Amino acid sequence: MNSSPYIDLLKKVLIDYHRINQFEYRPIDRYNKNWKFKILRFIDSFFRKKNHILCSIVRFNEEDRLNGKDWPMYADSMIGMRRLDNIEYCFRKVIENNITGDFIETGVWRGGATIFMRALLKDSNITNKIVWVADSFEGLPKPNEKEYPSDKGDVHHTKDELAISIETVKGNFAKYNLLDENVKFLKGWFKDTLPKAPIEKLAILRLDGDMYESTMDTLVSLYPKLSKGGYVIIDDWGAVKGCKQATLDYRQKNNITEEIITIDWSSVYWKKE
Ligand SMILES: C[S@@+](CC[C@H](N)C(=O)[O-])C[C@H]1O[C@@H](n2cnc3c(N)ncnc32)[C@H](O)[C@@H]1O
Repeated sequence: MNSSPYIDLLKKVLIDYHRINQFEYRPIDRYNKNWKFKILRFIDSFFRKKNHILCSIVRFNEEDRLNGKDWPMYADSMIGMRRLDNIEYCFRKVIENNITGDFIETGVWRGGATIFMRALLKDSNITNKIVWVADSFEGLPKPNEKEYPSDKGDVHHTKDELAISIETVKGNFAKYNLLDENVKFLKGWFKDTLPKAPIEKLAILRLDGDMYESTMDTLVSLYPKLSKGGYVIIDDWGAVKGCKQATLDYRQKNNITEEIITIDWSSVYWKKE
């Protein structure tokens, strides 16, 4: 791919690649049911009252970071280098083939993947496309087991570290000088925001909402808006069973037969024909 030095460097910065061989301090898992964690949780609660938290020290693992396998402590995206490369690939194809429509990610966490989309547009002086940033900005929903049995037992909603406020995400865009009128935020649960989002057409639809419900809500509302020649990217296909199931169910129901292409251990994409 013909990347500019800016885009190459930005990809590394977004995943904190420059911190390779350093340590990260990760808060202890407060939801682990093991008895050792019960004790650690107790100590952690005590420290939290004094504005301290209990952390474990983890060495930055290069392979994990390139493949989006860890939840970084500081980086602005958890998707890793292969998936950033995939966004860039889809971007270049969409521009080359003059595909109509905006870009969206549903499930943005600290915003890294959408910051990257905005940077790609800026780097190529493209001003007629919007980057849509869709998230609750308060983490994942509790599983609705009745309507979506595949989400039964899903614990993503318990993970505090997945709840990043809209102010923080806007601040992250601003850090890179990329917060402007070409970035629009859709705040709320996908089932509420996406059906009425003022989006006309999409050229890139990136799903990163982990659960069956989040994946299905996105596909139902937005896949019909994806232009022919545009790309849909499913981040959690290999990582979360419910996400893969929702994608398969939606494809089957809508007779979608385009070839599914693997990006890395977790993510896949296809081009809408
Ligand atoms: C794994 S993180 C996304 C990682 C991100 N794409 C990146 O570049 O690092 C999942 C995000 O999806 C959001 N999310 C999941 N399901 C949602 C839903 N149904 N409605 C709104 N937000 C949702 C969560 O708040 C969280 O920010």
